[in-house]
Amino acid sequence: MTSSTVEAAEPEVAARIDALADGLQAQGWLSSSRVRATLHAAPRHLFAPRRGWCAPDGPGSRRTIDRDTDAAGWWEAVYSDASIVTQAADGAADPAAGKDEATSSLSSPGAVVAFLELLDALPGERVLEIGTGTGWTAALLTALGAEVTTVEIDPALASGARERLARAGVEAAVITGEGADGAPERAPFDGVHATCAVNHVPYAWVEQTRPGGRIVAPWVPEFGDGHKLLLTATGDGRAIGPLSGTANYMLLRAHRTRLRLPDDLGGATETGTRLDPRRVVSDSYGADAAIAGMLPDVQGGSRTRGGAFELRLADVAATSWALVRRTSGPEHHVLQAGPRRLWDEVAHAYLRWVSWGRPARSRFGVTADQQGQVLWLDTPTNIITPEPPRPCREPSQG
Ligand SMILES: C[S@@+](CC[C@H](N)C(=O)[O-])C[C@H]1O[C@@H](n2cnc3c(N)ncnc32)[C@H](O)[C@@H]1O
Repeated sequence: MTSSTVEAAEPEVAARIDALADGLQAQGWLSSSRVRATLHAAPRHLFAPRRGWCAPDGPGSRRTIDRDTDAAGWWEAVYSDASIVTQAADGAADPAAGKDEATSSLSSPGAVVAFLELLDALPGERVLEIGTGTGWTAALLTALGAEVTTVEIDPALASGARERLARAGVEAAVITGEGADGAPERAPFDGVHATCAVNHVPYAWVEQTRPGGRIVAPWVPEFGDGHKLLLTATGDGRAIGPLSGTANYMLLRAHRTRLRLPDDLGGATETGTRLDPRRVVSDSYGADAAIAGMLPDVQGGSRTRGGAFELRLADVAATSWALVRRTSGPEHHVLQAGPRRLWDEVAHAYLRWVSWGRPARSRFGVTADQQGQVLWLDTPTNIITPEPPRPCREPSQG
């Protein structure tokens, strides 16, 4: 598959790709000429569904796209910087309806090229991709000269990707299986490229990466925003590296959680706080990473209800919860229940971050090993996650 083939078959495609690439460059997502060339070598439309839900990350209208009924709209969506939902509710709902939870997508080009640049795969390297989806990322990695193994948990998606890759003339090994286990039979790898988010890096990925090899992944912790991770395997059972910008991908199935507060909030302890809960969530991206690192099992979510900002907290083990409602008075209203005082813990973590001089996200990094994962500030020896690390949750759900 070459750009000249593309130009011969679809004269306007090369121009569309160049316009998209120019936009990605202007946005700061794309700077590598090698990666830019892959957009031509593995044109996105070969991996796009005929029908889907176009979900722009930036401003833009969310809508159904359908190649058969509105070809112009379909082409426009495919060569825009928007993700296209290809599966909803793990296959139980129509992905083009935009109603149910999106569970697979053709990721947005900006997110895809940024991760490709972070991984920086060299020709001939063996790369393990987690989350095959449509197969587009696998095709782009192949176009970079990598030898690609890609793992997809959903059999229907894996078989669709195999067909698309074969039609596009791309040789990549598509494995149907649990991505958290990697692909031990094909290890070691020079790089691991996760295109589904994790709330901790599975140890199998560290084990299966050569010393000096890289692992890139969207880290979506329980609290706050998602972050790009760029880890390097040290050869002694660890992978270490910095947070590298924002990333919000759909989660690896086993890492999905839901923040739930009881319907009946009675019985909670009522107190007040002078710390504005809005501060705790809006001082991103540094405070949220720090809080997630210090309290890895605390989930946070915010919303506005009846005109008042609310911060909701719960622990993953569902023992405790807290609700902080902003008021116009000197103190904001706090409800806490269970053996832990989650607002007190979050407020303490936030103020520790303040006392460190409000370090930005780029000053934090992660070390992943067999025990789980810890977050550090500035240097891997300055660990802020409580030691020993809280055990990583391995829920059974799908
Ligand atoms: C955002 S999509 C990936 C997009 C894809 N790389 C592409 O180019 O189209 C995330 C994918 O991860 C898959 N996934 C979720 N949990 C997984 C797991 N435990 N193992 C392997 N794949 C998983 C989903 O089924 C979904 O297809």
